Amino acid sequence: MDGAAELVFCVNGRKVIEKNVDPETMLLPYLRKKLQLTGTKYGCGGGGCGACTVMISRYNPITKRIRHYPANACLLPICSLHGAAVTTVEGVGSTKARIHPVQERVAKCHGTQCGFCTPGMVMSIYTLLRNHPEPTLDQLTDALGGNLCRCTGYRPIIDACKTFCKTSGCCQSKENGVCCLDQGINELPEFEEGNKTSPKLFSEEEFLPLDPTQELIFPPELMIMAEKQPQRTRVFVGDRMTWISPVTLKELLEAKVKYPQAPIVMGNTSVGPEVRFKGTFHPVIISPDCIEELSVVNHADDGLTLGAGLSLAQVKEILAEVIQKLPEEKTQTYHAVWKHLGTLAGCQIRNMASLGGHIVSRHLDSDLNPLLAVGNCTLNLLSKEGERQIPLNEQFLTKCPSADLKPGEILVSVNIPYSRKWEFVSAFRQAQRQQNALAIVNSGMRVFFGEGGGIIRELSIAYGGVGPTTICAKNSCQQLIGRPWNEEMLDAACRLILDEVSLPGWAPGGKVEFKRTLVISFFFKFYLKVSQILKTMDPVRYPGLADKYESALEDLHSRNHWGTSKYQDVDPKQLPQDPIGRPIMHLSGIKHTTGEAIYCDDMPVLDGELFLAFVTSSRAHAEIVSIDLSEALSLPGVVDIVTEEDLRGVNSFCLLIEPEKLLETQEVSCVGQLVCAVVADSEVQAKRAAKRVKIVYQDLEPVILTIEEAIRHHSFFQGERKLEYGNVDEAFKVVDQILEGEIHMGGQEHFYMETQSMLAVPKGEDQEMDVYVSSQFPKYIQAIVASTLKVPANKIMCHVKRLGGAFGGKVTKTGILAAITAFAANKHGRPVRCILERGEDMLITGGRHPYLGKYKAGFMNDGRILALDVEHYCNGGATLDESLFVLETGVLKVDNAYKFPNLRCQGWACKTNLPSNTALRGFGFPQSGLITENCITEVAAKCGLSPEKVRMMNMYKEIDQTPYKQEIDATNLIQCWKECMATSSYSLRKVAVEKFNSENYWKKKGLAMVPLKFPVGFGSTAACQAAALVHIYLDGSVLVTHGGIEMGQGVHTKMIQVASRELRMPMSNVHLRGTSTETVPNANVSGASLVADLNGLAVKDACQTLLKRLEPIISKNPKGTWKDWAQAAFDESISLSATGYFRGYETHMNWETGEGHPFAYFVFGAACSEVEIDCLTGAHKNIRTDIVMDIGHSINPALDVGQIEGAFIQGMGLYTIEELKYSPQGVLFTRGPDQYKIPAVSDVPTELHVSFLPPSQNSNTLYSSKGLGEPGVFLGCSVFFAIHDAVRAARQERGLLGPLKLDSPLTPEKIRMACEDKFTKMGEMTTLTAALPTVLLSWIPPHSQAVLPKPLLVLLAFW
Ligand SMILES: Cc1cc2nc3c(=O)[nH]c(=O)nc-3n(C[C@H](O)[C@H](O)[C@H](O)COP(=O)(O)OP(=O)(O)OC[C@H]3O[C@@H](n4cnc5c(N)ncnc54)[C@H](O)[C@@H]3O)c2cc1C
Ligand code: FES
Ligand code: FES
Repeated sequence: MDGAAELVFCVNGRKVIEKNVDPETMLLPYLRKKLQLTGTKYGCGGGGCGACTVMISRYNPITKRIRHYPANACLLPICSLHGAAVTTVEGVGSTKARIHPVQERVAKCHGTQCGFCTPGMVMSIYTLLRNHPEPTLDQLTDALGGNLCRCTGYRPIIDACKTFCKTSGCCQSKENGVCCLDQGINELPEFEEGNKTSPKLFSEEEFLPLDPTQELIFPPELMIMAEKQPQRTRVFVGDRMTWISPVTLKELLEAKVKYPQAPIVMGNTSVGPEVRFKGTFHPVIISPDCIEELSVVNHADDGLTLGAGLSLAQVKEILAEVIQKLPEEKTQTYHAVWKHLGTLAGCQIRNMASLGGHIVSRHLDSDLNPLLAVGNCTLNLLSKEGERQIPLNEQFLTKCPSADLKPGEILVSVNIPYSRKWEFVSAFRQAQRQQNALAIVNSGMRVFFGEGGGIIRELSIAYGGVGPTTICAKNSCQQLIGRPWNEEMLDAACRLILDEVSLPGWAPGGKVEFKRTLVISFFFKFYLKVSQILKTMDPVRYPGLADKYESALEDLHSRNHWGTSKYQDVDPKQLPQDPIGRPIMHLSGIKHTTGEAIYCDDMPVLDGELFLAFVTSSRAHAEIVSIDLSEALSLPGVVDIVTEEDLRGVNSFCLLIEPEKLLETQEVSCVGQLVCAVVADSEVQAKRAAKRVKIVYQDLEPVILTIEEAIRHHSFFQGERKLEYGNVDEAFKVVDQILEGEIHMGGQEHFYMETQSMLAVPKGEDQEMDVYVSSQFPKYIQAIVASTLKVPANKIMCHVKRLGGAFGGKVTKTGILAAITAFAANKHGRPVRCILERGEDMLITGGRHPYLGKYKAGFMNDGRILALDVEHYCNGGATLDESLFVLETGVLKVDNAYKFPNLRCQGWACKTNLPSNTALRGFGFPQSGLITENCITEVAAKCGLSPEKVRMMNMYKEIDQTPYKQEIDATNLIQCWKECMATSSYSLRKVAVEKFNSENYWKKKGLAMVPLKFPVGFGSTAACQAAALVHIYLDGSVLVTHGGIEMGQGVHTKMIQVASRELRMPMSNVHLRGTSTETVPNANVSGASLVADLNGLAVKDACQTLLKRLEPIISKNPKGTWKDWAQAAFDESISLSATGYFRGYETHMNWETGEGHPFAYFVFGAACSEVEIDCLTGAHKNIRTDIVMDIGHSINPALDVGQIEGAFIQGMGLYTIEELKYSPQGVLFTRGPDQYKIPAVSDVPTELHVSFLPPSQNSNTLYSSKGLGEPGVFLGCSVFFAIHDAVRAARQERGLLGPLKLDSPLTPEKIRMACEDKFTKMGEMTTLTAALPTVLLSWIPPHSQAVLPKPLLVLLAFW
């Protein structure tokens, strides 16, 4: 071994030499901070979001081949990169040099909104194209599986990808030889293709061609280095850690003998997250580099040997080839492993993670280990003592010392035997999300019958997710040997397996009954599958399956995505240069795709800059007895710790109704409450020190977490809200039937891709400060900072360039974080930056309010609802925040699209010990609307009618009055409904769904349609005022500023469109730099779907003022240019700068009388969704969604379609997969993308059709347009009700005719458990075992729970 080595690699073709590398450094911070390549983004730090995707290229001097693969920079230690070429988004293309076709097409297909996920998306697509210049759609969607986007809903990104495929016009999948565009799939009429009736949102003709010869080549220098340089072990020595990279097997073994405790880091996807989230520390790391023996692929007589160093992606490719070449009977295990590799993590992780790392990690939810165990695989081990083989069996998986690797031993390769004739292997898994989600339960199963006979000779079954490691049902299998493969065997097997895989209440991950049910449902699937194969092999002896059962074995509907958007083209008479109504690309689109768009944390580090990290409470309700800062303060680099003491006199601020404290050092009321803040020279030092602050708590009672507990303790924020119309009590006396019900709805995390970020910069004179912050509300940031620093607002300027998503989550909490950051900056006279990690962000900032809705409906037998009495309870969390406003909005919008002649709605905001919940897209309406729609669905069931019929019957018709007596013209609501019925072919598809359901027992389809009436407005005129400032410069160029924040919705693009129309100049002449309290003071919060509406009217006003001033000059020289006119105006002393103002819509609401005009206007719409569910696993697939919206005259159809689709997918996540979980002590378990699942590309409906109603109404809004940011969220509940419909069908077939209560989110667990059958019955727990987890958890002190390491949290999660 040599002494300290030089690290050499290339980034975007440029050589990087690091002489004193710190082995603890990951590539992401290195790129962002050291190389200032800020295009690669931080989204989670744990490999779960894809924002940090880069391409790694490696040259293999033996095969002479270059391998390009995508990787997560956040998990890549830079020491592992010696000899590699890294390509970041900046290396792919830029506006300064050449834009790459991927960048161009993603932008021009409108695949970017906030743009924060975009560089990662670009890198995933780019890497795929480097390997497959004409990919299939399957390859494309697979390549995007590891990238999350919270804004777009993925459809436009898929559209952009499709342009690289050979055939891009359709779904590319032939179902029974019929493709989506062919006439009459499933005997249903063809969808009227958007481009036949409406212009396209982008034009493919203008795209740059993809020319692979133009790509960055692999640096020849690295190639020479790999070929020529003598290979020897490299050692990198850092302050705390030593990194050893052996290059031969011998050196690897020597290192392992010397450092037996050191992990062998291959992909770092297991070790990396442990270090980052669990705080595990390894003083020495051994990371083999290009050791040939670890990459072996050997085909022997009895099977395949695969090197432990092969990546999972390489294993998948190898298996795909082998499956093609060998007869099916030999490849049963390979096929099962290959199938699991299709869903295991995302593409990046599969390319980084190694087979050996996967096996040796022995994660409890490993997808491959159960399969490799049942497949009789053996592990080839090597140590200084020599080689040996051990079986990959239960003993190895449970780390039994006699069957485990010895210290100094390494895994070299794995033998996977061929399967034999009459041997069958299958893999099963169910996760919260279809792709890139750890399995809740997975399984590998193998049976061998021997030649004919149908008698079980060998049986192996292993499960993941049901114990602390992979569990083998060995005894059950033993007892079943010798039995024939029939129903009796099945029944016995289920009982035996359940006994053996006992899954007591304290089993890891909770969801115990669901898991028990899955365990045997998987076996049932295996039984069916084997029975079916046996039939094809010997139809005489084996009867096979009933036709109705066959679909149990098929994957859920898996055709490729396609969609259409239908909108009205502009009037042909409109001037060609007038951009209003045209699908203009987001003006930052190209910069998003090149990584040049700058977000708060992309700003370069300033001289003397400090970093601030928060210390938060680990108790839900406790008195703070003492805080010991001494150890933290003594650490190197620590400058200060800000406490409540420092903030004396300024430690609270009132934004809305109640003042909120900034720091709390006396009594904490939720886990995640800010206690103090460490300020240090660097992020690493600040975070290390924050962990050393010691807080002693004295727990207080009660700890209230749920709405029920709040009701029990009468814990409410003051200010009940009540709305009453007609006479509810009288109406109940005359109705045919009355039903009472309730529905719970879980909360939602904003999951903006850019976490909370801010940089406070003291200016050095007159107490001035600039605050750069990712906030929706600069005025509030200015005010809270000014108050905290005790200076007037005119000293504090707040600047916002753009946000990487916000959705309501960057308002109130951001202000508190910014105030403390600014305080520290002011105190030390140095810039201070604060960027929350994903886990902290999720813990501290709260989210959408969980709701409980109780309703009593009085209705006639024909479905008419005459009286509705509703109670809303929202979980506000520990402080008031915006809870009362959310509640108010929910109460006001309770009627959704329906005229209830007698209505009463009351609401209470519960005060609990959860982090304070806040605004989230839709602001109370998605919860309130779901409660109402659920009630209607139940009424329909009682009346024996379809919910759609009852919906239509009760809908507003034409001119009417809302419960608060605001006039409503519902013509367009009815129009949307009818149009949606027609475009979705609802009636025909309803029949088709019923036919499918009658023919399939284990798969069911559901269809549901919901209407939407979304009232837009803030409820007060002042809250709707907006201002703008427009300058014309002497060269004729224009600068527009306004009070709105660009957070992905494209408001700046729309504002430039407005200025362009009003000033009659091309958009290219108009620029917008960002939002600042310096240019437009006192701007309202950006939210409530109104940002473009309000600010657009202000921009319009400013432009009109300017044009009026300039008209005499223009008319004197009509052929002149803007430069001429500007100069002439200047010469005549005419001001070329104007402010514009909009005083706000006339809105008001009187809660005393329950009457008012709280909303400016209504957005109408409807959505119809069709789903298929797997009754055995609880999985669902959204097959098709049709959305029709009345949005008036769209200012920019591309942006508006994007808002609708993005909101819809966010809503779909809310109602179906996004699940927040807390411990009984109030500790949030779901603190990152690995535990909290937002929709991924695989969740997009296979077909998604969005159309706008032809504009009909003229209004006082901006060019008669309507605000669209929020309404689409609610339409996501069409998927909820489609699942509801499918579950109801399943239950009806099973004779379960009673009421069906399903809460939101409708997760796989809830779906499976609602499809009751003999397996759910068998999976049921006794009361005693079910109670065990609570008892056990109560033994763990709350403080220990708060600091439980992440994987353990996962274990304990989902109670
Ligand atoms: C975001 C994310 C999503 C994931 N999703 C899934 C999923 O859906 N399904 C699933 O099953 N898994 C999933 N995983 C887990 C993943 O499969 C494992 O982390 C991965 O396979 C480990 O491989 P590695 O090469 O990165 O291991 P490393 O982290 O490099 O090493 C892991 C361990 O293996 C040991 N080791 C490695 N190679 C050898 C060897 N040759 N000899 C002896 N010991 C060795 C090391 O000492 C270390 O202790 C996910 C992980 C992440 C980060
Ligand atoms: S930041 Fe790397 S995957 Fe999320
Ligand atoms: S555009 Fe994808 S996260 Fe915002």
